[in-house]
Amino acid sequence: MALVALVNCSQLVTLAGANRPRVGAEMRELAIIHDGAMLIRDARIEAVGARSKIEALLNSDTQIIDAGGRVVTPGFVDAHTHLVFAGNRADEFEMRCSGITYQEIARQGGGIRSTVRRTRDATENELLAVAQKHARWFLRSGTTTIEAKSGYGLTVEAEMKILRVVRETEETTPLRCVPTFLGAHEVPDEFVGRTGGYIELVIDEMLPLVALHKLASFCDVFCEPHIFDQHSAGRILEAARRLGLGLRIHGDQFSCSGGAMLAARLGAATADHLEHTDAASIAALAAANVQPILLPGSVYSIGSRHYAPARAMIEAGLAVVLATDFNPGSSPIASMPVVMSLACTQMKMTPAETLTAATINAASSLNLAAQVGSLERGKSADFVVHEAGDYREIPYFLGTQRPAMVYAKGERVV
Ligand code: NIG
Ligand code: FE
Repeated sequence: MALVALVNCSQLVTLAGANRPRVGAEMRELAIIHDGAMLIRDARIEAVGARSKIEALLNSDTQIIDAGGRVVTPGFVDAHTHLVFAGNRADEFEMRCSGITYQEIARQGGGIRSTVRRTRDATENELLAVAQKHARWFLRSGTTTIEAKSGYGLTVEAEMKILRVVRETEETTPLRCVPTFLGAHEVPDEFVGRTGGYIELVIDEMLPLVALHKLASFCDVFCEPHIFDQHSAGRILEAARRLGLGLRIHGDQFSCSGGAMLAARLGAATADHLEHTDAASIAALAAANVQPILLPGSVYSIGSRHYAPARAMIEAGLAVVLATDFNPGSSPIASMPVVMSLACTQMKMTPAETLTAATINAASSLNLAAQVGSLERGKSADFVVHEAGDYREIPYFLGTQRPAMVYAKGERVV
């Protein structure tokens, strides 16, 4: 049995603690071990502690990983991504730079619909090659687990194709991928003016197939008044729940339009975006134990300044999560350190809070907290050796930070 020891960590940032998402002041408690070390057997963490304690457990065959006096954290968990899409929208990025807004571009038939056209045309193998490239981007940034949504197919066949690609990415790369069905991401071209007909297709045909082939763990809906309003989003999510799927919602992104309230009413796992969520909705999320997933990269990338009220959420006791929202339109960002930096400067979260939101709280939102999100005995050996001596440097050196080493399931992947 392969025994591996990680030694010489200036800070081993374990995030050990209660077996539940962290709230309030707990979000600032990182359980750091100075000059820490970790013992790994067969891709699982066997022991974590001070160097002297761990060194006493080594034998002559133990393989040593020298962290070089650097910071080690759990691999990042990115709980909101749109992994699979064809092409990109650099053309729309240029349009936004000249002042046209993200919503105007969508109204003119661009936006999500333009990516849908290209993704429908791509073969499953072409999409897999792109998804594998994106997987390398995530791993290179220190992310070892992602949630991955469909939503750029919007036909029965194309949505299933995307979810199969998520599964194939998980099987062919070291990145752990949790699939989410987002058939209600937009109303496709052929259903414009007939939203009701598209909702029937999602509920009557897509969802049963997703459940039958076990292609997704969660169902998500883009809940906005002009896309899928609260009532329609609720119907889709209730149908998903009857089929055993967990629930996530894109809500309150452009207006406080009941997305967070719906998440609370349905007891969803998460409510995501929440840039315009008000105090009453925050209280409802707290009462229903829904985790907010904040996506400052998408606020930044669309050129908005309206960031989600993270401080009010932490003060209300919500187990806040940060994610990239990686997608070709509103957030072409795959880096959790970039998102953490934006959360610090734009939403006034502390570096410690952002690390909790990017690891253990994110893992909880995916029901994966028993496997990943902290460095504790029994969990998967997913960790990052950062080019830093103090964890605060991770969000501080914006855009420059590159992990020195990344390990997923005990294997060095970067
Ligand atoms: O989370 N808001 C809806 N969905 C994505 C954007 C997708 C796109 O622009 O292609 C989001 O921001
Ligand atoms: Fe999204």
